[in-house]
Parts: sequence; structure tokens; C-alpha cells
Amino acid sequence: MSISLNNQACPLEKALALELSDKKAQGLYRERAVVDSPQASHIVFNKQSMLNFSSNDYLGLANRQHAIETIKSKVNSVGFGSGASHLVSGHHQAHQQLEGELASFQNREAALTFSSGYMANLAILQSLAKKGDVIISDKLNHASLIDGSQLSNSDSVRYAHCDLASLERRLKKSARHKWVVTDSVFSMDGDIAPLDQIAGLCKKYSAHLIVDDAHGFGVLGHSGQGCCEYFNLSQGQLPVVMGTLGKALGGYGAFVSGSKVLIDYLVQTARPYIYTTAMPAIVAEANRDNLDFLSRNPQIIDRLNQNIGRFKKLIKQTSLKLLESNTAIQPIVIGNTQALIRVSQRLKDDGILVGAIRPPTVAANTDRLRITLSAAHTNDDIKKLVESLKKACVSDG
Ligand SMILES: Cc1ncc(COP(=O)(O)O)c(C=O)c1O
Repeated sequence: MSISLNNQACPLEKALALELSDKKAQGLYRERAVVDSPQASHIVFNKQSMLNFSSNDYLGLANRQHAIETIKSKVNSVGFGSGASHLVSGHHQAHQQLEGELASFQNREAALTFSSGYMANLAILQSLAKKGDVIISDKLNHASLIDGSQLSNSDSVRYAHCDLASLERRLKKSARHKWVVTDSVFSMDGDIAPLDQIAGLCKKYSAHLIVDDAHGFGVLGHSGQGCCEYFNLSQGQLPVVMGTLGKALGGYGAFVSGSKVLIDYLVQTARPYIYTTAMPAIVAEANRDNLDFLSRNPQIIDRLNQNIGRFKKLIKQTSLKLLESNTAIQPIVIGNTQALIRVSQRLKDDGILVGAIRPPTVAANTDRLRITLSAAHTNDDIKKLVESLKKACVSDG
């Protein structure tokens, strides 16, 4: 399958087009569909109305009316653009308040906001891990942690996924500082890292633990504080936590929480924090509103957990196999790219939108449906999903 070029195409364009054609031939070319509605459990996707099981809006807060009203009522006083980086003149009162509220929500001394989790992870690793250090990463860590390791000047090694023996073998080797880095909830698998035991190993081998809680913040623990609450880990046991505001919190941005010294050190040294424009203050205000909602209504997490249980129970009555996961991320491995594309198209034809995840995001031959549940789904939504999955997967053998 080739990409058409005009006659004046330069050598660079020809080389790029060739690579893109290869991707198309392998079924690995990614297309952006256009969404024409707010994010919610039902969205308009490529002009088609769809039941949405593909977003990370786990608590259904992305289109929460009160947060939208807050934006409307505050935009005149706060404005739109932030105009500069935090260290120049872009650090607004709204960021300052959000940081204080995040820190107290998580029982940490301080927090620092970022425009995205990707940037927060780059910042943590570039700033903290130095030449002579070693970053020890779970093999299935998110791309932003892999990229952050590359940005730092330290060595990096990987341990087998959630494998404590493999981690311990890595920890036994000496280095100036050892940084153990892991997702809390793995984004493409939905399983939870055994952070209590990992924290124990970090203590035993004097290593520092960094956790990416992108998919845990807002949903793990009774009040949604995330992995630190779920595993009851103190700031000393888990000194660096990154949480995102664009997933369970339904907004945009991210934060790092920990000691005052840690946050001060990041402000002084983290290039992805220093050299970028601050998130618009109005976004910080909407994030504050949703955080306030969550802190007053933690029972919304029960609704999500009931939906997860309901989905798993219905799937058990079919021949379909889920990966081992108790979180909102419920993958079904299809195994081959062409089959995955067929299954996901059949689901779309049925009005069901599910993430279709291919290499390089996941390993070759583990192509999968990434089904994500939300507190906003109804019982009927979940029944319809399972009925459609049965038809779409079974007709592919
Ligand atoms: C585990 C994990 N870490 C970090 C990120 C990046 O977060 P953000 O989307 O806010 O850049 C994501 C989201 O895509 C993620 O899944």
C-alpha cells in the first residue's frame, strides 16, 4: 500500500512516505478520528454515535457540569493563556492553590503541577537521576518513563514485569544512587505493581522509589488518593509519586507529590518544568473543582468498582478471556494485528468504541482490545458491550 506523492517530492518526503507505506502494509498506521462531542460515556466519533469504552475518564468527570460552570464563572478574572513559564510570570494563584490541595489530598508535604504526565515523568528522571546512578524500570513501564530515562545521564536497566526476584537481582548491583521506577497500574494491562513489596526491597537496598500513578490517582484507595493510600505507603516509603489530572480527575495536567525539598529541587532543576509555558490557570481552576468534588464524594469510586465487577462477571459467562486485572483497564488479547483491526471495526459497526492497541505500544503478537470502564457507564451500557464483544470476537474464531 503506497502513499501518493506529487512529482516534486524531495528525497526526505520520499523516504518518509516509504516508511509510512510500510506501516500501512503492516496494519500499524495510526489514524486520528475526530470527536464532535464532549468526552463522556457516549460520544460522537467520526460522525458516528458511539458507546465509549476507550477513555481514561474513569469517574466520568471530564464533562462534569459544575466544573464547566466554574470555568464559565472564573474565565473573566483568570483569562485564557498563562503567558509564560512558572518561573517567569505564568505561575498563577490557581496553580498555587491546586498544588496545596493536591498535597493535602495525598497527605504529602508538597506538590508541583505540570501540563502533562509525560512532561512530569521526563522532569522527574532528568532532574533526579544523575551520571553514575542506575534507573531500574519495570519492563512494561509507560513510554514517558522510558523517554525520561533516556533524557537522564544515568544508566538504565529493566526488570521482568512485576517480578520481585528479577528486581532484587538488579538491586544487588551497586551504583551511586539506585532509582526503582514503576507504573502503579499498568496502562495496557490493568494490573497493579506490588508496591508494598517493591518499597520493602527499596529499603533493603537503599534505593529510591518513583511511582507513576497515572491510572491509580483518583481511583485507588477508599478516597482516591491513589497507590499511596491503597498500599498505605508513607512519604518516606514512597518519596516520589506522579499523578495525572487528565484521567480519573477528568481534566488536564499532572503533578508530582512528595517532600518540600523534593518539590523545591524539581523547581530548581527539572528542565521540562522550567522551560515550558504553564498550564492555563483556568484549567487549574477546573482541576481544583473536580478534586474538590472527589474529596467530598469518594463513593463515586464504588460505582466504578461495581461496574468493573459487573463487566467481569458477564465476561465470565462467555468464552472470552480477560487479562488478570481488577482495575478499570480490562484488556482482551487478540494476538494479531489484522485480527484486532477486524474485531475493533466490528465493534465500531455495532456502535461500541474500544481502544485497539497494537505494537509498538504493546509487544508483537499481544495486540489487544483495551476496554476501559467508567463510573458513568450504566448497567445497560455494560451489557451491550459484552453482547457486542461476544459477536465481534467469536466471529473471528
Ligand atoms: C502510565 C502513564 N504515565 C504517564 C502518562 C502520560 O500522562 P499524560 O497523558 O498526562 O501526558 C500516561 C498517559 O497516557 C500513562 O498511561
